[in-house]
Amino acid sequence: MAAKVLVAYATKYGATAEIAERIGQVLGERGLAAEVRPVDDVSDVTPYAAVVLGSAVYIGQWRKEAVTFLEANEKALAERPVWLFSSGPTGQGDPVALMKGWRFPQAQQPVADRIKPRDIAVFHGALDTKKLSLVEKMMIKGVKAPVGDFRDWAAITAWAEGIAAALNALQA
Ligand SMILES: Cc1cc2nc3c(=O)[nH]c(=O)nc-3n(C[C@H](O)[C@H](O)[C@H](O)COP(=O)(O)O)c2cc1C
Repeated sequence: MAAKVLVAYATKYGATAEIAERIGQVLGERGLAAEVRPVDDVSDVTPYAAVVLGSAVYIGQWRKEAVTFLEANEKALAERPVWLFSSGPTGQGDPVALMKGWRFPQAQQPVADRIKPRDIAVFHGALDTKKLSLVEKMMIKGVKAPVGDFRDWAAITAWAEGIAAALNALQA
């Protein structure tokens, strides 16, 4: 039977949800039974053989519901293969360089150290000013963040393929 893999995400405006859907699609194409869910819809990760968890980044932080999920499920996550990702920086070039070296929220680093994820990725995000509040628009302008959809589907697909290969090797 195919291993059940949870792809859980926290999003505000949908960009991260679509990244999670793509990851789930790739895992499915590679023979894994992926379930893509918002973190708030998941109360228990123990039915899953592995977990991929991602959040949008706002002012250097993960979404609150992703932090809650990570902390509430720490023990179970530490007992299974886990991959973490963030969706954030807009603009061209290496996403970590765009984030000035940021890879993961500092406040959650101790939890991540205990969970020992297989990988922590940062993906480009998407900013649609039509969806933002006035305050958010001002903040984006203030930091001169490029507006548009910068999601790198090739990078996301390649990362998901790596997860599928690792999980299929575990099952073999
Ligand atoms: C008010 C605001 C603050 C943001 N802060 C950051 C940030 O600190 N770092 C970052 O990389 N991206 C930041 N972003 C960009 C978002 O993370 C990016 O647009 C993301 O893809 C949105 O995902 P979502 O549509 O799933 O909510 C910010 C966006 C807004 C509107």
